Order: sequence, then structure tokens, then C-alpha cells
Amino acid sequence: MRYVDIPRTDLRVAGLCLGTSHLGTAVDRAASFALLDAYYEAGGTFLDSAAVYADWMSEERSVSEKTIGAWLAARRLHGQVVVGTKGAHPDLRTMHIPRLSPKEILGDLERSLRHLGVDRIDLYYLHRDDPGRPVEEIMDTLHGAWRAGHVRYVGCSNWRAERLRQAQAYATREGWPGFVANQALWNAAALNPEARADKTTVPMDADLLAYHRQTGMAAVAYSSQAGGLFQKMAEGRLPAPRPGRPDLYPREENARRLERIRRIGAEAGLSITQVTLGYLAGHPFPAIPIVGCKTLPHLRDSLTAADTVLSAEQVAYVEGREP
Ligand SMILES: NC(=O)c1ccc[n+]([C@@H]2O[C@H](COP(=O)([O-])OP(=O)(O)OC[C@H]3O[C@@H](n4cnc5c(N)ncnc54)[C@H](OP(=O)(O)O)[C@@H]3O)[C@@H](O)[C@H]2O)c1
Repeated sequence: MRYVDIPRTDLRVAGLCLGTSHLGTAVDRAASFALLDAYYEAGGTFLDSAAVYADWMSEERSVSEKTIGAWLAARRLHGQVVVGTKGAHPDLRTMHIPRLSPKEILGDLERSLRHLGVDRIDLYYLHRDDPGRPVEEIMDTLHGAWRAGHVRYVGCSNWRAERLRQAQAYATREGWPGFVANQALWNAAALNPEARADKTTVPMDADLLAYHRQTGMAAVAYSSQAGGLFQKMAEGRLPAPRPGRPDLYPREENARRLERIRRIGAEAGLSITQVTLGYLAGHPFPAIPIVGCKTLPHLRDSLTAADTVLSAEQVAYVEGREP
């Protein structure tokens, strides 16, 4: 397992993070523990959760965090694994109403601490932004939680580059690191942002990429395998397009990307999974894919990419551009 230092922190984490949105719900408790065990035994030390996982599947709230808390306690692994979790997600019934008041952020944080069974969260992300709220107020709230020792580091998820720049400039003026990682929708596929089902998500774009290149901030990629897009295309089991609904990952363009991914794989002896995940790791700043595996075979296959890092030329080739 390759390990990655997150700049401006003392966090050294596995180069593949395990996504846990389905733990305890779509994947039952025993199978969830088996996935967590297999990931940890392979050298995995970085988990991704959120207060809202997976409230869309269960009456009980925050089952993912509770499952991780139970696993950490059962395996006595507190302090051995870096747990990143997220709060301040909108209520699922009112996705258009942001929840980033100090009360909402701190209330979510307090519950996450309890669910995970920890005194301090290693990496606490804001799951969304509220562009209508001054960054100063948001950062002051996080700064207070940091000073109180409830979070070791903070990050953001689904923030646009302009707001990220403002937040970081303010944190620097206040004399603390502010965000140390940005969790964005990012993978090797071409993406049509207009086709996002949830418009509060923010995909990696040219502006965010430029920000990461300039500052070296760590990027944590979610939907890092585009839901298994390239593997499914290669196996001819991509679901049929939905009438009247454009594809998030346009098929023709991604069929061309798949050809190039295959060519790199044939030359370098790499699988589609390895090229797809190695594409993210091949960027000139720390980039850590979250793998959202629900089964042991998928997890084992994804872990074969733990040491794969594409060159700048290969990254450009996947995208069909000059390096
Ligand atoms: N910050 C945010 O807003 C946000 C949003 C979404 C997710 N996340 C985080 O990111 C994690 C992963 O998200 P995701 O599920 O969208 O990501 P993903 O890794 O792109 O998709 C997961 C799906 O990819 C397929 N897959 C995984 N490994 C595979 C393999 N080795 N070979 C073939 N197919 C494979 C499986 O599809 P099938 O099951 O269909 O076979 C699996 O369900 C979540 O658990 C969560 O921690 C964060």
C-alpha cells in the first residue's frame, strides 16, 4: 500500500480511502466488518463517512458512522485509522436549503463524535457549502471546534474554487490552516455537469484543478470509479440510457476514453481498475481516490490499484489531450 502525506498536517494515510456510505445499510453489519477488516489487513488506514450516510436507506440515522464506531471499538483500532467524516449536509427532504449555521455545523459534529465513539475527529469536512453565507462565519465556527479539540483537521466537500480561495485566505489571516483537503466528485471519465441529479454536488473542474496545482492542497476523490463505468462498459453491462435524461458520463466520449485506458493497460500491464484509479493518483498534488466497494471481490480488485500512479503523459492521454 502506498501512503500519502496530507500537506500541512501530520496525517499520513493510505493512498486509497475506503468509502462507507453503504455500511450497515445496503451492506449488513457482518459484511461491513468483513470489508473493513479486509481493507485494514491490506494496509488501509483512511475511511470516509458522513453523518448523512445512509439516511436515504434507513429509518435509523447515521448508520455508517455507527458501524465504523462499533468496528473501531470491536477491533481496538482507535488511533490506528484516520477517520474522515462530514457534516452540514442539507436535510434530504429539502436539498435546496443549506445547513451551515454554527448551530447546525456544531450539532452535526457533536453527534458524529458520539456515533464514532471518539473525542476528536481526524478530518472533519463540510459536506456542502452555503454560498449565501460569509466564509468568515463558517470558518470561525470550524476554528472554534478546532480550538476546542473536537477536530484535528478540517476539509470541505462540494465547494467551488472561488469560495475555497476566500475561505483559505481568511483562515490564513486568522493564523490557522483552515481546510487541508477538498473532497470532490472526480474520476477519469468525461462528465456532463448539467446531467448531475443533485445540483449541490461539485465536480472537479479546471478552476479547482488549478487551485490544487497552485496550493498543493490534497484532493480526495469521490465517485472515483464513476460507479464502475469503464469496467461495466468493457463487460457490456452498462445500463441502457434513460429516455429524456442525458448521461452524467457521456457514452461516446467515454467509449474513446475506455479505448485509451485499454491501450495504456496493454502497454503497462495494468487492469482497467488500476488505470482508472492510477489516473487520479497521477496528478501533481496529493490525490486520494475513495473506493466505494460494496463487495469483497470489488474491494480486492480496487486494492490492486493501491500502488498505481500514472505519469503526466498517461493522464493527458486518458483525457485525449497533449501533455
Ligand atoms: N462528498 C460527497 O458528496 C460524496 C458523494 C458520493 C460519495 N462519496 C463517498 O465516496 C464513496 C464512493 O462513492 P461512489 O459509490 O459514488 O463511488 P464509485 O467508487 O465511483 O462507485 C462505486 C461502485 O463502483 C463499482 N465498483 C467499485 N469497485 C469496482 C471494481 N473494482 N470493479 C468494478 N466495479 C467496481 C460498484 O458498482 P456496482 O455496485 O453497480 O457493481 C460500486 O458500487 C462513498 O462511499 C462515500 O464515502 C462522497
